Amino acid sequence: METLEAIKTWRSSRKFLDKPVEEEKLEAILEAVRRAPSWANMQCWKLVVVEDGETRQKLADLAFVEAYFGPIGYKSNPAQKGIAQAPVVIVLCADPAKSGNLWEQQYYMTDAGIASQNLMLATHAQGLGTVFVGVFEEDKIRSLLGIPREIRIVGLFPVGYPVDQGETRPRKALGEIVYSGKWGESF
Ligand SMILES: Cc1cc2nc3c(=O)[nH]c(=O)nc-3n(C[C@H](O)[C@H](O)[C@H](O)COP(=O)(O)O)c2cc1C
Repeated sequence: METLEAIKTWRSSRKFLDKPVEEEKLEAILEAVRRAPSWANMQCWKLVVVEDGETRQKLADLAFVEAYFGPIGYKSNPAQKGIAQAPVVIVLCADPAKSGNLWEQQYYMTDAGIASQNLMLATHAQGLGTVFVGVFEEDKIRSLLGIPREIRIVGLFPVGYPVDQGETRPRKALGEIVYSGKWGESF
């Protein structure tokens, strides 16, 4: 699939068919992450590929939050329960010490975000589906997978053949997000 077409037709998948992911497709996804740009080319990411069914179920459970009453309220999308069906879950981690930290900007999140987008587009371009799951019990997943304390877990990506993708989700119009020349000037 051509890049712009993949971007245009992207949508998150939270339900998966009982169908394995071919090894070469998984490798192409991991290779797309490997090719991502990063702060000073330090490539702060590490990935854990989980295929074992019991561990995938535990990950799905640890990523389902009934309600979180922090500074902003949060509740996991109920559709997210379907992620345990995905035959592969990629756990994307990053080492903050291996990226920039300047003027209160932590660039490991930027690096990991770019790597995530490569992962998502490479998945979608091959007829597979995934979703960025960004809320989860980080410490419990660290223990489950033996991830060291200093490493941050940025996202879980269940990967599989999606059930009925449906329409793409709406986005703001360009006029709402783009200014011309100066902040506030309509484009
Ligand atoms: C940083 C980040 C965290 C996200 N976390 C979750 C999540 O925990 N659970 C979930 O179901 N979707 C999650 N999503 C997916 C978004 O809800 C989804 O991308 C958005 O609603 C737009 O829908 P679309 O991806 O289908 O276009 C996350 C997306 C991003 C970028």
